Amino acid sequence: MTRIFSGVKPTGHLTLGNYLGAVRQWAEVDQHRADALFSVVDLHALTVDHDPGRVRRLSKQAATLLLASGLDPEACTVFVQSHVDEHARLSYLLECVATDGEMRRMIQYKEKSARERERGGSVRLSLLTYPVLMAADILAYGADEVPVGDDQTQHVELSRDLAVRFNQRYGRTFVVPRATPPAVAARVMDLQDPASKMGKSHDSGAGIVYLLDEPDVVRKKILRAVTDSGTEVEYDREAKPGVSNLLEILAACAGGNPEGLSGVYESYGALKRATAEAVVELLAPLQKRHKELVADPAYVEEVLRRGAERAREMAKPTVDAAYRAIGLLPPT
Ligand code: TYM
Repeated sequence: MTRIFSGVKPTGHLTLGNYLGAVRQWAEVDQHRADALFSVVDLHALTVDHDPGRVRRLSKQAATLLLASGLDPEACTVFVQSHVDEHARLSYLLECVATDGEMRRMIQYKEKSARERERGGSVRLSLLTYPVLMAADILAYGADEVPVGDDQTQHVELSRDLAVRFNQRYGRTFVVPRATPPAVAARVMDLQDPASKMGKSHDSGAGIVYLLDEPDVVRKKILRAVTDSGTEVEYDREAKPGVSNLLEILAACAGGNPEGLSGVYESYGALKRATAEAVVELLAPLQKRHKELVADPAYVEEVLRRGAERAREMAKPTVDAAYRAIGLLPPT
């Protein structure tokens, strides 16, 4: 059976980008067709300046939102990364396979470290090694597929490279995974700055729709979205990035494709109103279920406890095999 692994990091409140680019596909499709694991990858949240209490709160919130989005603990495994030691154990071995040069070529590292230096801050070493930990997340479970948005495909490519290299050097140990981005909305852009990705850790929230935003807040953000010069509703990511982003969001929420929908709306205003309503409608059941789950924290905790137990069992044999293959003496 196909094995799937994916995760979300608790560095901020989950966004519409996370949902359309990843989580919805996990809930609607992936968990039903494969042996799937989905993780709140909290170790990754420590790679940038962080507040311990906030990371804890966001981790719990992210886990609750994954369940509210429809992940069913009977159909898939939902867990918190730091509850399973195998991730960190394997990460070190993969650091001994990866090179400094390939780490420094990662686009997200280049962008985030440049931003941090501009602010006068220091760059954590873990920001550089982050993609290796991500590779460990994936390879520990022998995942064939990794459903992620566009921004993560370079990291999945690195996981492939590391798996192939390890297998060549030390004998076949890892499955070589591949990224499976969604057909539409693989890169939802910021509503105020359609040249950048809608990201949960951005400083200003005006261009970001959060999954827990009230309907009126969602409407306001979408109605105030930056659009492009001209008046015609056209799907052209280069020439009309703002309008094209709205068309993608609308297509992802309401069905159809962005090109087809562009002929339906006569003005930017009409497109914005339709998009706002489609997003509000999409988020309503998720928000309702989130409220119910927040009232039952013991249930969420139990799901995470069982999930970690299952994940540990799945990862340990592969990670143990990697320890043996690379030349470490097994304990007696
Ligand atoms: P993270 O937490 O930034 O995002 C979680 C998922 O949401 C997708 N995504 C988007 N998709 C479309 N448009 C957007 N604006 C948008 N923003 C985010 C991401 O592509 C991702 O699929 N490094 C990962 C977490 C991770 C992981 C893993 C994922 C750690 N280990 C192993 C897969 C497998 C990250 O930062 O995701």
